[in-house]
Amino acid sequence: MHILITGSKGQLGRELRELSSKWPQYQFIFTDIDELDITDNKKVEHFFKDNQPYLVINCAAYTAVDKSETDRLTARSVNVLAVKNLALACSKHQAKLIHISTDYVYTGHGPIPYRETDFTNPLTYYGQTKLEGEEMVEEFAADAVIIRTSWLYSQFGHNFVKTILNRAQQGLSLNVVFDQIGSPTYAADLAEVILNSISKMEFMSGVHLFNYSNEGVCSWYDFAKAIIDIKGLNTVELLPVETSAYPLAAPRPAYSVLNKSKIKEELEMEIPYWRDSLVKCLKQL
Ligand SMILES: NC(=O)c1ccc[n+]([C@@H]2O[C@H](COP(=O)([O-])OP(=O)(O)OC[C@H]3O[C@@H](n4cnc5c(N)ncnc54)[C@H](OP(=O)(O)O)[C@@H]3O)[C@@H](O)[C@H]2O)c1
Repeated sequence: MHILITGSKGQLGRELRELSSKWPQYQFIFTDIDELDITDNKKVEHFFKDNQPYLVINCAAYTAVDKSETDRLTARSVNVLAVKNLALACSKHQAKLIHISTDYVYTGHGPIPYRETDFTNPLTYYGQTKLEGEEMVEEFAADAVIIRTSWLYSQFGHNFVKTILNRAQQGLSLNVVFDQIGSPTYAADLAEVILNSISKMEFMSGVHLFNYSNEGVCSWYDFAKAIIDIKGLNTVELLPVETSAYPLAAPRPAYSVLNKSKIKEELEMEIPYWRDSLVKCLKQL
């Protein structure tokens, strides 16, 4: 069974690669923009004809949230049009699709953890494109799972954990916002959920939407404090600041907590607590 992974040089793609040897029943084909630019419909079609994937895991995305506000064409091309290409190709070649989306589709105001059925109203252009990407899957894919996740980090790529750790290791003081609340997601945990769900998808039809993050809730300040404490870098100065101290091109949601009841029940899983997963990730760094 060929499993195509797009965007495989990103955080999630690289965690999937790390874990893939534990699923020897599948033959993984790891691609990124150099091997398969998913915005190129002809290349996508050729790829499907040549490789006949059983399932596609779409980890490719335009994830530069602030840049998306100005580089709208690229954000739309990768997060919407390319998803349509994949969804159509999957449908045509009877392949299943696992697509990753984001907490940024919600309104970001809280105060109750978001369910999949809750009203969506993205605050940012990135969030808007990700929501439209979901709509492409819903409209054009036959059998698909969409997973909305939040605050993704990994030992690979650029992310909050690595930025905080780098600064703290250099002894630089840190100002981190305390008024944005959410749940971190260790990309290795999400990768495992994705790989486990492949066999479950055999018994599912249609398009299914799930939320997934690690368990528990924190602010970015709490998250930074945990990174510093776990690494024993407590001499570094860490100050809680308000969001207004850091104006960004794209406004960040004040509240981003996801309700994961649906994925836990339907895909029968337990979700690790965010701090326990952070400890695991920091052991690699
Ligand atoms: N990061 C977060 O905090 C976060 C939070 C919630 C949801 N998500 C979602 O989770 C998923 C995985 O995120 P991630 O953090 O692993 O992303 P990432 O690290 O930015 O990786 C995305 C990968 O896709 C590649 N890519 C971009 N355009 C492409 C194209 N046209 N064709 C093929 N590949 C292309 C990128 O290459 P380049 O690097 O060369 O552009 C990169 O290797 C995404 O759907 C994202 O929206 C992320």
